[in-house]
Amino acid sequence: MSEPGGTFDIVILGAGSGGYAAALRAAELNLSVALIDKAELGGTCLHRGCIPTKALLHAAELADQTRESEQFGIKADLIGIDMAGVNAYKDGVVGRLYKGLQGLLKQPNITVVQGAGKLVSPDTVEVQGRRYTGRSVILATGSYSRSLPGLEIDGKRVLASEHALKLDRVPSSAIVLGGGVIGVEFASVWKSFGADVTILEALPRLVAAEDEEISKAVERAFRKRKINFKVGKPFEKVEYTEGGVKAYLAGGETVEAEILLVAVGRGPTTDDLGYEQQGVTLDRGFVITNERLHTGVGNIYAVGDIVPGLQLAHRGFQQGIFVAEEIAGKNPAVIDENGIPRVTYSDPEVASVGLTEAKAREQYGAEKISTYNYNLGGNGKSQILKTQGFVKLVRVNDGPVVGVHMVGARMGELVGEAQLIYNWEAFPEEVAQLVHAHPTQNEALGEAFLALAGKPLHAHS
Ligand code: NAI
Repeated sequence: MSEPGGTFDIVILGAGSGGYAAALRAAELNLSVALIDKAELGGTCLHRGCIPTKALLHAAELADQTRESEQFGIKADLIGIDMAGVNAYKDGVVGRLYKGLQGLLKQPNITVVQGAGKLVSPDTVEVQGRRYTGRSVILATGSYSRSLPGLEIDGKRVLASEHALKLDRVPSSAIVLGGGVIGVEFASVWKSFGADVTILEALPRLVAAEDEEISKAVERAFRKRKINFKVGKPFEKVEYTEGGVKAYLAGGETVEAEILLVAVGRGPTTDDLGYEQQGVTLDRGFVITNERLHTGVGNIYAVGDIVPGLQLAHRGFQQGIFVAEEIAGKNPAVIDENGIPRVTYSDPEVASVGLTEAKAREQYGAEKISTYNYNLGGNGKSQILKTQGFVKLVRVNDGPVVGVHMVGARMGELVGEAQLIYNWEAFPEEVAQLVHAHPTQNEALGEAFLALAGKPLHAHS
């Protein structure tokens, strides 16, 4: 017999980025919340995703800077990578943020329930025999590392990203299956740590979701860094060898390495959770909602990686906030998926918001679109950092900027301004009047706008 666990304004299943953001916003709005999770508060992003990978990428940057320090007149030798030390640093970052999050969620309006939950009616989630009933329910169960049919992830030689994050050594060589975000980030880390890396990507280019020119720039930079990649050739199978693995590509080509990382996307965690039984529509496992994130069943909403679209933590945060406000009757504005900034933290970094040139041409008609590329070669701070890359703007003629695409060191930090420009539908002529501090990389954005407004400053034509 199940027992009552309590009645709440909102029952949230999953305490990752989407779920905990919804809980925090709901609590601010004086709603009572049960926040249920079978694992640690914070979910994939904090424990097995964004945060630990970015710590690794920062350690990787330090390794490269040490190697390249001579270029700046600094004498240093890179003696080695102490993975125990790198992991301690990474785990320390995660640990401090985890503690902070636990503190944030400790408040009268939020009841944290530890355990695996299942939706047993449109308003109730059951956890270990206890029933938690909500006037509204938010499904926020996140995603898992997908594999391919017949490709078994053993966590030792064939890894998913969660295993790769815990490696206690730098592999001598690695095959990275998938040249998307996870693939290029790990390839970048391992190369900086001294491994021989080969990326296998079925599509014709790396980071294929980005603007084509950005992919070209990443590929150029990776070639220079001696990161191997094979694009346009589907992977077929992997075999174990004496010391590692051998991957086979369509056409018979093979690549051998110590380990293989599977980075072919993340699937929604929606199996056996009672969603379909309660009438929630799933499409290939994803929860289908309307633009207000309602599932069409009772008062059930869904947020984060289980909802088709960008699988990004900050999208989860925003959707969580949105749904809490929706439930509180605040009628929040619908989130524009294209207005969500995207950053890939490899070296070089890629940052973008809005439409790629190809999508803008498709949407508005080729003749209505103009683009401008500002080369970081003309940007003082980028010269100081010795980075290469560019800022690309896509605009509607006599209209707003509908896409900003950037590649180069530290470009992720520029996406903040880029997303304001996109989301406020700014015209280049308007942005060109605003002052960018000198010397910053941020200026590269300003220069691109000056050029597009017909008054270039430090721009070579
Ligand atoms: P992804 O969708 O970005 O890339 C997967 C890649 O694998 C695609 O390019 C696909 O063409 C390729 N692929 C699929 N099947 C293949 C096959 N049989 N042979 C060769 N290549 C194949 O997914 P990824 O990189 O696994 O990341 C998962 C999610 O996590 C993404 O949605 C991503 O946005 C998110 N993420 C975000 C990060 C960030 O914002 N910095 C960092 C890491 C992950």
